[in-house]
Formats: sequence, structure tokens, C-alpha cells
Amino acid sequence: MADLYELGELFTSELAAVNAINDLNDLRVRYLGKKGLLTQKLKELGSLPPAEKPARGAALNDLKVKIQEGIAFKQAELTTSHANSTSLDLTLPGHNPLLGRRHPLMQVEERVKSIFRSMGFVVETGPEVETPYYNFTALNTPDWHPARDEADTFYLNDEYLLRTETSPVQIRVLERGQLPVRMIAPGRVYRKDKPDPSHFPVFHQVEGLYVDHGVTFADLKGTLLAFYRSLFGEETRIRFRPHFFPFTEPSAEVDVTCFLCGGAGCRVCKDKGWLEMGGSGMVDPKVLVGVNIDPEEWTGFAFGLGIERIAMLWYGVDDIRLFWENDMRFLKQF
Ligand code: DAH
Repeated sequence: MADLYELGELFTSELAAVNAINDLNDLRVRYLGKKGLLTQKLKELGSLPPAEKPARGAALNDLKVKIQEGIAFKQAELTTSHANSTSLDLTLPGHNPLLGRRHPLMQVEERVKSIFRSMGFVVETGPEVETPYYNFTALNTPDWHPARDEADTFYLNDEYLLRTETSPVQIRVLERGQLPVRMIAPGRVYRKDKPDPSHFPVFHQVEGLYVDHGVTFADLKGTLLAFYRSLFGEETRIRFRPHFFPFTEPSAEVDVTCFLCGGAGCRVCKDKGWLEMGGSGMVDPKVLVGVNIDPEEWTGFAFGLGIERIAMLWYGVDDIRLFWENDMRFLKQF
């Protein structure tokens, strides 16, 4: 039965060379068609002596199954592999490319930046690894201030720390000695806070600073009112509560009327009608003197606000840690 073995080998090699459905059909006809190579052998079976028929018949049948299966496998291969397929199924759904998008915190930061840019503020940046001088001393933060404590601040060594606020960028810009200054500084800040729904050891702030001739608290009020109206809507009102910051005098915390209820009280503002948005004040003369600016000639205001705070209120996110998990199910919603 060497001839059947050879025919099987021939089929295997010819099948391997087939790359298109048309060629596969030709191959099928060549072996299994009316005058096919295997069909011929089957026809010859009738003229064999009876004693040889069963063994020869079984061998022929094995070969037939092998050829049929080989062709079926090849057919499946050719119709599922796109590269080699000559039959293109236009009814199959296409592959949707995964679209990336901006992180919600960066979306809020972009919005804040574009509003302040429209008011003539330029965007500045500063290092996240800072010195105690820029982070505290130049900002008039006394040696005994609790923020300097190792329990609250990430010190890398005696010389460097991770900035706890974006305020040091004020100092770096004022040091250049080019006045007037009208800037914002967005960026990451770090504090040794245990993660919980409202704390995370890294978060984002935007610092604002305007130093010029004759800048007053009224300018601060007007600027922040315009900003928050642009951010939350034209009905928004703001109020200032006296506070203390080492680098501003006087200092105030800024509240805005709740964007959802307009001040009536709801779940967003926890029935207070007001939302606490951040700190502000008039730049303390001591800070100006520290960077060789004459406080008799120049005055300024400063403010700081939190990106996470705005994003959580605006999007109704109740756990700050969600911003850092990078869970696609969360991020896809923005
Ligand atoms: N640096 C302050 C903080 O992290 C925020 C702040 C308050 C910035 C008042 C200011 C300001 O510029 O005037 O809590």
C-alpha cells in the first residue's frame, strides 16, 4: 500500500502550500473530484481480489478522512485569518480603538487655567522637591509652626522636602524682580496624611498671585468672584471669612454659594448653602521685603485653591482615593 502512503504525503505537502480559498477548492477537486486522485483509487477497489479488499478499503477510507479533515481545517484557518482571507465579511462589527481621555483632575486644572489666563494671569511652575526656605521661611512661616513638623511634612533630608503647598512658587517668581506679577501656579503638593475618603498624601493646588501698584483687597474679591462665576455659573456669590495664613495679612477663607442649590441647602453643600473653597489674603509685607520688594511701593493679593476639592464637588465624587486608583470604570465617566 505504498501508493496510498505516497498519495497521503503528496496531499500533505500540497495542502501546506495552499493560501487561498480558491486554491483549496482546486485541491479538493484534485483529490476528491469525479476524476480525483483518491476517487480513482476507490474505483479500482472493485477489481481487486476479494481477499485484499477489506484491508485496502480500510486504508482508502482512512486516507479519505485525512484528506477531508485537512481541507476542513485549512478552510477554517483561511476564513478566520484576516491577512490571508480572500473573502471579506463586511457585516462583522469593526474593532473600536480605545480612546484615551484626560484625567478628571487635569480636566478641572485645565478649566481653572483657562479662566485665569483669560483674566491676564500667566501660568508658572516650580519644583515639587523644595527647600524649607522656599516652602516655609520665605513664606513667613515661623520655626515653631506645626506644618514644619516631620509628622506633617515629607522631608527627604535636612536640605530638601516635598512641597506642602504651591505657595513657594510665589517666592521663586517674585525673586526674579520683574514686576508687576500676575500668575497662577498649578501643581502637586504632598502632606503626611493617612489616606481616607477626604485625604490623600498627594494632591493638587492652584496658587494665585498678583503684585502691582495699588492692588487692594477689592481686587482680590473681584478676581475671585469673576473666577468662581465663570467656573460655577453667573449666579454664584462669594464671601470671605477672616482667617490666618503666615504669608498673608489680612487673610481670609473663601466660600462660594453652592452651585447645585444656589444657597438654599442640599446634599452637595450638606445643607449649608455655602462651599469652602480655599485661602486668600493680601501678601504680607514681610514676604515682599524678603524678596527685596518695597511694600510701600508694591502691594499684592494671593490665594490658593484645591483641584480635588473642586472636582469632588462638581462631579459628585465622595472618595478622593478614586482619583488615584486609575480604575477604567471610574475614569471612563469623565
Ligand atoms: N498655601 C495654603 C495652603 O496650602 C493655601 C493658601 C492660602 C494660599 C492663602 C495662598 C493664600 O496664596 O493667600 O493651605
